[in-house]
Amino acid sequence: MQSVIPVSLPQHSYDIAIAPGSLDHLGTWMQGTPAQPSKLGQQVLVVSNPAVFEHYGDRVIASLKQAGFTVATCLLPDGEQHKTLDTLTKIYDAALSNRLERSSTFVALGGGVIGDMTGFAAATWLRGINVVQVPTSLLAMVDAAIGGKTGVNHPQGKNLIGAFHQPRLVLIDPQVLQTLPVREFRAAIAEVIKYGVIWDGELFAQLEAAPQLDQLANLSAELLQVILTHSCQAKAHVVSKDEKEAGLRAILNYGHTIGHAVESLTGYQVVNHGEAVAIGMVAAAQIAVALQLWHETNAQRQLTLLQNAHLPTRLPPDIDLDAILTSLQADKKVEAGQVRFVLPTQIGAAIVTDQVPTAVIRQVLQGMQTG
Ligand code: NAD
Ligand code: GLY
Repeated sequence: MQSVIPVSLPQHSYDIAIAPGSLDHLGTWMQGTPAQPSKLGQQVLVVSNPAVFEHYGDRVIASLKQAGFTVATCLLPDGEQHKTLDTLTKIYDAALSNRLERSSTFVALGGGVIGDMTGFAAATWLRGINVVQVPTSLLAMVDAAIGGKTGVNHPQGKNLIGAFHQPRLVLIDPQVLQTLPVREFRAAIAEVIKYGVIWDGELFAQLEAAPQLDQLANLSAELLQVILTHSCQAKAHVVSKDEKEAGLRAILNYGHTIGHAVESLTGYQVVNHGEAVAIGMVAAAQIAVALQLWHETNAQRQLTLLQNAHLPTRLPPDIDLDAILTSLQADKKVEAGQVRFVLPTQIGAAIVTDQVPTAVIRQVLQGMQTG
């Protein structure tokens, strides 16, 4: 089972390849085909972290060398707390000491943290060199590796420093998910359900047909392929239509408005990003029902899917509703003082609106309190 999904852009179109076992053929994929050679230069810097590299580093390096690339490695510390300008200098130092040129390529081997940092380093080193994304977490496969958003965090906020820089190739080997911690897998399923709600009713139906969504071991190989293919197609379509988020791309923020507030108010310790998005999706669904944009039965179907993935669907205990409402005002998604929400209108479609009365948000959040 292999799928190739094109991301069509005015400049720098590229493919997302989903192919089990492809990690051992990364070098060949990077060479392109005789009809369409990739024109990537000979030098490659593989950027990863020790947790991922110990599982997959040797295979990636062997495959690159076999294809004739000259390979150097740069390992960054693992974790969101290291997604900083300071850590980025390690990539620049490695690029300098290995004499990377304009034609050279960074390969990001890891989750979204490695992908975002490597992408940003590629956007800025020598004013822009090639990057190939080899995502190893489910979240990076279905979201972070696609679409060219790159960056690092500022002490005052996540992803405040960044650039758009599209990869030359995204290569997904689903087999690497076998070593991904269960909680990371589950969190990414929230984003997969998100694509079903906002874009792809067929994906939503396939998820509904699955007995369990809570861990990789409970998914068939066919369902995993469906999840990866449909999610990547959804993201590729949206990015192709709106690369720089002038409009449509904002729908990918479904569940993120209240999700971000919950994440930051609990200090990024209690719920992880995907879990916060799950809570945010429940809230957005209830807001859509209250505004008569969405039918209650659809909100219930979404809730059932989230529960089937063992994702949280209520607010964490002791979170202050007023603090959430205040936090919404500080979010990146506020424009001219109005909080922007992505709200579903049917299974497979959503709108962006800033016409949500605060009283409705409060009422919905009250209904989601724990205890
Ligand atoms: P992550 O990169 O921190 O990975 C989660 C954990 O799983 C890490 O400890 C990592 O080392 C480990 N891991 C990854 N793959 C593994 C594997 N196959 N086996 C064993 N361990 C593995 O987190 P994430 O959830 O992948 O990504 C989150 C980041 O992505 C955030 O920084 C977020 O801002 C960013 N993001 C970016 C975009 C975008 O469009 N650029 C979109 C969504 C999220
Ligand atoms: N993760 C949202 C986006 O890429 O636009």
